[in-house]
Amino acid sequence: MSDIESDTQRILQLRSELREHNHRYYVLDEPTVPDSEYDRLFRELKALEAKWPTLVTSDSPTQRVGSTALATFRQVRHEVSMLSLGNAFDESSMFEFDRRVRGGLDLDSDLLFEDIEYSCEPKLDGLAVSLLYKNGVLVQGATRGDGATGEDVTLNVRTVRSIPLSLHGAGWPSVLEVRGEVFMSKAGFERLNAFQAEGGGKTFANPRNAAAGSLRQLDPRITATRPLDFCSYGIGQVQGSLPDTHVDILEKLQEWGLPISRDLKRAKGIDECLAYYRDIGERRSSLSYEIDGVVFKVNSLPSQRELGFRAREPRWAIAYKFPALEELTELIDVEFQVGRTGAVTPVARLKPVRVAGVIVSNATLHNMDEVERLGLMIGDTVIVRRAGDVIPQIMQIVKDRRPSNARAVQIPESCPVCGSHVERTQLVKRSKGKETVSEGAVYRCVGRLACGAQLKQAIIHFVSRRAMDIDGLGDKTIEQLVDEKLIGSPADLYKLKYEQIIDLEGFADISSKKLITAIENSKTPTLARFIYALGIPDVGEETAKVLARSLASLERVQKALPEVLTYLPDVGLEVAHEIHSFFEDSHNQDVIGALLSPDECGLQLQDQGELSAEFAASTTLGGFLDKLHVPSVGPGAAQKLADKFGSLEGVIKADWLDMRQALPEKQAKAVREFFDNPDNARHALAIEQQLRDFGMHWQSEKKVVEGLPEAGHTWVLTGSLELMSRDVAKDKLESLGAKVAGSVSAKTHCVVAGPGAGSKLAKASELGLKVLDEEAFVAFLAKHNISV
Ligand code: IVH
Repeated sequence: MSDIESDTQRILQLRSELREHNHRYYVLDEPTVPDSEYDRLFRELKALEAKWPTLVTSDSPTQRVGSTALATFRQVRHEVSMLSLGNAFDESSMFEFDRRVRGGLDLDSDLLFEDIEYSCEPKLDGLAVSLLYKNGVLVQGATRGDGATGEDVTLNVRTVRSIPLSLHGAGWPSVLEVRGEVFMSKAGFERLNAFQAEGGGKTFANPRNAAAGSLRQLDPRITATRPLDFCSYGIGQVQGSLPDTHVDILEKLQEWGLPISRDLKRAKGIDECLAYYRDIGERRSSLSYEIDGVVFKVNSLPSQRELGFRAREPRWAIAYKFPALEELTELIDVEFQVGRTGAVTPVARLKPVRVAGVIVSNATLHNMDEVERLGLMIGDTVIVRRAGDVIPQIMQIVKDRRPSNARAVQIPESCPVCGSHVERTQLVKRSKGKETVSEGAVYRCVGRLACGAQLKQAIIHFVSRRAMDIDGLGDKTIEQLVDEKLIGSPADLYKLKYEQIIDLEGFADISSKKLITAIENSKTPTLARFIYALGIPDVGEETAKVLARSLASLERVQKALPEVLTYLPDVGLEVAHEIHSFFEDSHNQDVIGALLSPDECGLQLQDQGELSAEFAASTTLGGFLDKLHVPSVGPGAAQKLADKFGSLEGVIKADWLDMRQALPEKQAKAVREFFDNPDNARHALAIEQQLRDFGMHWQSEKKVVEGLPEAGHTWVLTGSLELMSRDVAKDKLESLGAKVAGSVSAKTHCVVAGPGAGSKLAKASELGLKVLDEEAFVAFLAKHNISV
């Protein structure tokens, strides 16, 4: 066989395997091979297609994402109009629908009393699209538009992974127009919005808007990054033959690789339809996507033809809607609640309204930035939304309904609970040795434990099961204890007397004794539990465990410098500063002192002891210098300093000439200036000393890298990443021993390509290199126990 013949065969085989894996992954949700295998096959196909460009076909799995943006969408006329559906909102309209169907059919006398067979499908909340397959190949995708003319979104629908670029199997009509809904899962929507919010982009009010906004992008590369999905529910123009019931047709579409609803069912008569409606209704909030009702269709196609259409709606189908998830109501007031860490959060008080069967009168507003983002004023008419068990949210205001007496929402100057001053939090960002302070979204009551609200929450957290685990102390009791000034800090819990407890509401002899025992039994917590129980902002159970495991004594945790804490797994600088300032606070020191003092509370922490090898997190001098964030000094320059001077002291003391030998003038100057400031030099030495005290291993560069999994591999990052900055991605790769380079070459081991990746990605595919999208990259990091 010639080269081209065998390659052609391999290409065809790879395409069919990839199509199958793609289908299993995106349509059936049951992949049979790991992602790495898929990636390998994909890369092999890419390489062969690069070798034989004339063999590339538009339906090849490598061709999903186009590379140019359109100026406008072309208009497409629908051969068969895309109609809408009549709605039913109650059972009586469903019986009425059934009567109309029976009346419209010329039923034989023996069928007169038989039930009509209906198909039942969830009504997905997305947007309708038409997919045109000619000879099994997807040639056009169009939106519904006004039903007669829509927009050509071919390039965009091609990026939707569950839409096959060519039909599987055989026997399809030569022309087949599939109709269905493009939608976004609830999880995909949340992810997209979080990403958009982080990057200051537009957020979407609901999954439907997100799906529509994502599909109608002129640049298909943007659509490709959006988590869109597709579900077929019907057909348009057809040349060729198809079965003659709706369900059989959909099942055929499924055989040809198109996704259909998992909940597609046949029902005999309206009662079975109603049972189906109730069943789906009960499962509505646990479905992974949003639905706004159920669509019932007369299953027999001959019957459908007989019934025909009325105006723009088929007589043979109806949408039985669920109660809406969104309703309009009025914002009566905004009140402020004080949380455990003192955060003062706005809560919307709403004119009660029934949303999806539940009366809603409050909605969370998160913080003042959210109030600002919404442009909210008291008196506004707002759209509230309740999806599943999620706390109701205000999605939007209806601006043109704003009354003339609408009032601005103002953050109180003093705490509504204790009257202490309310301060706006500062966000301190440190990068390249510089600190920039900006205003945070959160306001805090400065009252700490003197604030009743914070004290109550702090105690509730302190005694909770995963913290000190004191059973028998409910929220109500804690409130009473605080309100009656029986306790003013967690330490006071250990001073409670039987006589005080028995006087509390709901307590009698036995329960009081039980509580005393529970309090007594909590006196020997593990270090991790104790740290967690303190309620340090941003320190959850996991971080508490990391601190306990790595530092092995409360004293070390208390003393640790923020920079030192950042050497611990998963502790970033923000959290490190929270921890540090918590222990610096004199009031906190007093409470901790009282808890641990044998004369007062007598707590004894377990498992404190010697440093374990675990924190012996290693660094190199280069890595250490890099982390000092000396202005204009990156990892490369830091390494050069390390190589040249061999120790921090050496660098601090280095004279100008020596420094110039190691670095270009500008960087050398920056380093000198940095360490000429005695505060910086002292601080750097203190960090180094503490790291040594805490058992940090200082390793020589080679040794560290050699043992690491990506040692000797060069990676390239291109495009924008959604879940982390490129700097962070680089850090993570370097921590695995990889080198991160700026350009792609044959020596590149792997390329991570985010949206907007251009020439580097193209070059990587040309070279047949391994390319990971962000999701795969995150999975790769996870495999090495690195989280994002
Ligand atoms: S059938 C002539 N089936 O609902 C019949 N529509 O209000 C046309 N939709 O534009 C539609 N799920 O976007 C049908 N299982 C389903 C559906 C469904 C969602 C949407 C579709 C259509 C709108 C009609």
